[in-house]
This record gives sequence, C-alpha cells and structure tokens, in this order.
Amino acid sequence: MTDKVYLNGEYLPLAEAKVSVLDRGFLFGDGIYEVIPAYSGRLFRLEDHVERLNNSLKGIRLPLNYSVADWQAIFQPLLEDGKDQSIYLQVTRGYAPKRDHGFPEQVVPTVFAMCSEIKPFPGKLTGIKAVTLDDNRWQLCNIKAITLLGNILLRQEALDRNSAEAILVKNGYVVEGAASNVFAVIDGELITPPKSNEILPGITRDVILELAQANNIPCKEDIIALEALQDASEIWVTSSTREIVPVVELDGKIVADGKPGPVWHAMDRLLQAYKKSLS
Ligand SMILES: Cc1ncc(COP(=O)(O)O)c(C=O)c1O
Repeated sequence: MTDKVYLNGEYLPLAEAKVSVLDRGFLFGDGIYEVIPAYSGRLFRLEDHVERLNNSLKGIRLPLNYSVADWQAIFQPLLEDGKDQSIYLQVTRGYAPKRDHGFPEQVVPTVFAMCSEIKPFPGKLTGIKAVTLDDNRWQLCNIKAITLLGNILLRQEALDRNSAEAILVKNGYVVEGAASNVFAVIDGELITPPKSNEILPGITRDVILELAQANNIPCKEDIIALEALQDASEIWVTSSTREIVPVVELDGKIVADGKPGPVWHAMDRLLQAYKKSLS
C-alpha cells in the first residue's frame, strides 16, 4: 500500500487518516466501495467502474454527484507512473451524532481512497482449488456494499478447506465466487451467469464477454446448473485484481486434465493484449 491516501478532500499519510467511530460505515457497514485497477499508471475502464459506483450509491440511496473527471482527479495523485496498482474507494453515509438505523437528516458522506500495488496472483498460472458452497448472502449482491460479512465467511470456509475460492450456489445454480465472477466452458461454449441482483456485475466479466465476442470465441450469458459446472471442461473465476484464474480442482475433483485449459490460455492472451493497448 502506498503511504498517501485521500480522505474527504485531503491527501494524507495513511497513519493520519482518521474517521469518527460514529461513522455509519464503522457502526453499520453503511456504505459502498469500488476497486479500480490501473496499468502502467492508467486507470482501467474508469467509466464502467464509475457507472457501477453510481448504481451502488443509488442502491443504498446515498446521493453523491461526482463525474468521471472528478474521480479521475481524486485518484490520479495516488497513482505512480509505470506501475500496476489498484485504487480502493469507499463511500459511507458518514458521521451521524447518534447511532440510529434510519438515515440521519444531514448526510455528509465519508469519501476515502487508497492505492495498492497489484501483485500477480500466485495461483493464476497453475490454477487453483475451489469449493462450492451454498450462497447464504443477502438479496442485493449487485450493490458493491462494504457489508461483506457473508462473503468473508464463505471465503474463509474455502480457505479452511485448502481452497482459494468459494463458488456460490443458489437453488442448484451457480451464482458467483465469494469475491469473483464465474465462467465455465461447457460443450465448447464459454458461459457465465446473467446479471441479476444475485451477482456483482464484474467489470472483468464484461471485458471477457466483449473480448470473446470480438474474437469469435463462442460465449453466452446463461444459467449454469451445479451438475453442469461439475462436468465443465474449464472453470474460471474473475476479478479486477486477480484477472482470470483457472480452477483446476472443484470440491476435491480434478477439472478436465487438471491444467488451465486452451480457452483460458486464449482469453488470458487477449486480456493482456487489451490491457497493453490501453496503457
Ligand atoms: C462478489 C464479487 N463478485 C464479482 C467480483 C468481480 O468484479 P470485478 O471484475 O469488477 O473486480 C468481485 C470483485 O471483487 C466480487 O467481490
């Protein structure tokens, strides 16, 4: 993490950035966040991240009208030229004088941003183990809420079982990962569950679908039954900081030949080329 952070209009050393213990983010998890990668110092798909941020703000009824240019101006001083980094942005409903569930009358949101280096995810080249778990989170998973206890407990359950990710299943269908979206190659076709309130609409997910369409890789957004996932020739989990990670073992069973598959290799090459073309 870099030492300089942004808090409510100021750039400060991390150790000097302080918020009240009455901040609703601290007391209630009442806020939303974004994670935006920057390659060689350039923010990746910032417009898409800001659009999702605005949807999250709308979803929790927190008005904050910053333009893409406003956000760019806030983030840029945190980034270092030539480095691969990610911005963590958090907006909460701010300080309220009294702990009360209802919104306070006067709301001054707390806006905080910090920057960390993106390190290549160790499991990416060899693939990871994943387990399937029942999705026991709330109904508004399309909002990127800081209230992440459900996701945290599910990810930890996966880690406790010596797996890097939990693939969540609801009513027999794949939803998403604890902190990722899910793709599967089934009968030669790349499939990911459609957008709904049950998943976070991942920016990496959108980029992969665009790249697949532009490069004639058969793909579709469709439901994936758990049995279909168990028979898939490839499974991936995707996110901004880990990119596309192949799953080579699911619930203790090897996926295909236990190595990252040919569609993953093709898509990873396309993604790396696309990132380079923008930076
Ligand atoms: C629950 C969940 N789904 C999906 C994603 C992937 O989103 P993105 O590709 O925008 O990072 C994340 C990212 O952290 C996540 O937490």
